[in-house]
Order: sequence, then structure tokens, then C-alpha cells
Amino acid sequence: MATRKIMIYGQEDVLEKKAKPVTKFDDRLHTLLDDMAETMYESEGVGLAAPQIAVRRRVVVIDVGDGLMEIINPEIIESKGAVKDAEACLSVPGEAYMVTRPEYVKVKAFDRDGNEFIIEGHDFLARALCHEIDHLDGIVYVKRVEDKKNDRIS
Ligand code: CO
Repeated sequence: MATRKIMIYGQEDVLEKKAKPVTKFDDRLHTLLDDMAETMYESEGVGLAAPQIAVRRRVVVIDVGDGLMEIINPEIIESKGAVKDAEACLSVPGEAYMVTRPEYVKVKAFDRDGNEFIIEGHDFLARALCHEIDHLDGIVYVKRVEDKKNDRIS
């Protein structure tokens, strides 16, 4: 395993490009997932998307305190409610903003071996899923801030 360099918003175009689906669930993907987890934990983040380490693939890792989740080719198939709460991103260091996200999402995804599974998340997990899936579509969360001045919390 190895840590990878995290791309900083405003410096790297890759953060604003749409990532491509994973088609091969091979050793290369497994190395990517291992490196992403190591990079996330070293940075004390709760989530990381492949474009944040300059890999344009639809791969996400999340750990909101319940263990590591590896999420490949995710697709939000259901969402409910709206909650405005604090959010930050390893690609936007030193800043945090209030952002409105669904209270609940249901996501269809694949594991590292290509098996389909469903994740359901409320509150913070729903927020993390939406934040990371946005990265795969080239959307950094600051674009979702409604009021840059009043919604800034750090
Ligand atoms: Co982020």
C-alpha cells in the first residue's frame, strides 16, 4: 500500500471532470482501493474519491466510524428529506461550509470483486455518500454552498 497525493481544488482540473465507470475488477483496482484507504486514514478524512488522487474512475472509500466501505460505480437510486449541516473536503483544506443534502439515500454499487450491493445511509453517512459521488461527477462541494459568506463555518 502507498499513500497518494491529494489534488487541491482550484489547482487541478481532474477534480472538475466526470470520472469513468470501472469495468475491470482486477489487481489494479484493488491496489487503487488499498491506496485510497491508506491516503484517507493518513489525512484523517471520512471519505475519498478517486479523482482526488487524480484517477478518473468511479471509485470511493468512506469510513464514518463504522469501518471501511469500498464503493465502486455508485448510483443514488433513492433519496429523501433535506438536512443542512457542516461539510469539509480534503481537496479544500482549511475551509468548511454548511451544505444541504438529503437526510437519506439508497445507493447501488459494486464491491472490489464486482458484486452488486445496496448501501442505505442517513444523516452523516448520506452526506458522505452524496459528497463523494459528487466528486465522481466533477462537483466539488463548495459549488453546492448556497451562501459563501454566511454558510462558511471555518
Ligand atoms: Co471531498
